[in-house]
Amino acid sequence: MASRGNFGPAAAGLLSFVLLLLQVSAGAAGDCHFPAVFNFGDSNSDTGGLSALFGAAPPPNGRTFFGAPAGRYCDGRLVIDFIAESLGIPYLSAYLNSVGSNFSQGANFATAGSSIRRQNTSLFLSGFSPISLDVQSWEFEQFINRSQLVYNNKGGIYRELLPKAEYFSQALYTFDIGQNDITAGYFVNMTTEQVVDFIPDLMERLTSIIQSVHWLGGRYFWIHSTGPIGCLPYALVHRPDIAEPKDGIGCSVAYNKAAQVFNQRLKETVARLRKAYPDAVFTYVDVYTAKYKLISQARKLGFDDPLLTCCGHGAGRYNFDQKVGCGGKVQVNGTSVLVGNSCDDPSRRVSWDGVHFTEAANKFVFDQIVGGALSDPPVPLRQACRSKGQ
Ligand SMILES: *[C@@H]1O[C@H](CO)[C@@H](O)[C@H](O)[C@H]1NC(C)=O
Ligand SMILES: *[C@@H]1O[C@H](CO)[C@@H](O)[C@H](O)[C@H]1NC(C)=O
Ligand SMILES: *[C@@H]1O[C@H](CO)[C@@H](O)[C@H](O)[C@H]1NC(C)=O
Ligand SMILES: *[C@@H]1O[C@H](CO)[C@@H](O)[C@H](O)[C@H]1NC(C)=O
Ligand SMILES: *[C@@H]1O[C@H](CO)[C@@H](O)[C@H](O)[C@H]1NC(C)=O
Repeated sequence: MASRGNFGPAAAGLLSFVLLLLQVSAGAAGDCHFPAVFNFGDSNSDTGGLSALFGAAPPPNGRTFFGAPAGRYCDGRLVIDFIAESLGIPYLSAYLNSVGSNFSQGANFATAGSSIRRQNTSLFLSGFSPISLDVQSWEFEQFINRSQLVYNNKGGIYRELLPKAEYFSQALYTFDIGQNDITAGYFVNMTTEQVVDFIPDLMERLTSIIQSVHWLGGRYFWIHSTGPIGCLPYALVHRPDIAEPKDGIGCSVAYNKAAQVFNQRLKETVARLRKAYPDAVFTYVDVYTAKYKLISQARKLGFDDPLLTCCGHGAGRYNFDQKVGCGGKVQVNGTSVLVGNSCDDPSRRVSWDGVHFTEAANKFVFDQIVGGALSDPPVPLRQACRSKGQ
């Protein structure tokens, strides 16, 4: 205070004005402090949804980080887990998991095998989840209504387990979905042209889901592009014809082309939403580039063969067997024997089970996207409530 006395009143006034300006601009560039995350998606971000419904992901899933299966198709954490960690939010409970869940800072509506469109088939026939994106949005609407009813009327422990009403407008809404729409098309023997033809329909549906989340109060959207599907062993094995021709690192040109068309349309869709809803903030995140960088530079980045499945069976080019997956067992002389084993060091592998990435790969992807370098607009995760120029 003594030094302040050395300034005249005008200088002091100017100083506090400058301080105020600094404060305002620091605030504008500062962190958003999202109190919650609500996630929609597929196995890339499923933290227990499919496991809650259709049987737990078997060991050795979860072995690296959780020490036991944790509802994730991975040896450890997913990108959504690193997102939660970095925002200071506990790992998201799956909305469908009725045991031991804590939704006070968010909920996860993703299930493995989910697609944007409803698949006209059963999980038991095709492996695709019935919890398509529209179903996830109905779950979300019920979650808002019922959680507020219970929070207000039951109180007690529920106030610790459910979000406050204001969190729904302050939360970050994350989306990572589309991979299964593309593979579902290819897996019923569509051509790349046929797959590309239904992408506009996917965009219409995604748009209407995001509109409904906005209508329900969501304002901050963080939308992942889909990855280079043509570099995943399951996709290559499923359609040997589409697997050729391959690029220099062994990825299918056709699958990756479809993923890139999807992503281009997604980026345009997000731009349209940004224009239509000036009261909301939309960030498109180019996960494709992060994943392709990892796969194409795997050895330089300290990883082994990026197309070799860590937790798989059957050796061969990919150590991937469509019939016996990670944690899979076969009958040998009347006893069930685990043959879908983990490799010794998942931290050096990119592909966990031929479909999903290892924790180490997910960490790499997260590190690529967290700072905003691959985002449109290029805002860091922690500032994804701020649109350009704000
Ligand atoms: C499911 O069937 C409906 C009605 O025939 C069709 O419009 C839709 O495109 C189909 N969905 C998929 C994923 O094939
Ligand atoms: C949620 O509550 C709103 C307002 O009361 C109501 O219009 C809507 O139908 C409810 N939705 C569900 C899924 O219960
Ligand atoms: C639920 O999580 C919140 C923080 O996200 C924590 O404060 C609370 O104690 C947790 N409640 C229970 C019962 O685990
Ligand atoms: C796709 O084609 C393969 C090879 O011709 C065939 O074995 C398979 O049954 C076909 N799948 C579907 C869903 O039509
Ligand atoms: C299964 O039993 C047969 C006959 O007893 C034996 O020859 C074979 O080695 C056994 N296979 C395994 C994998 O133990």
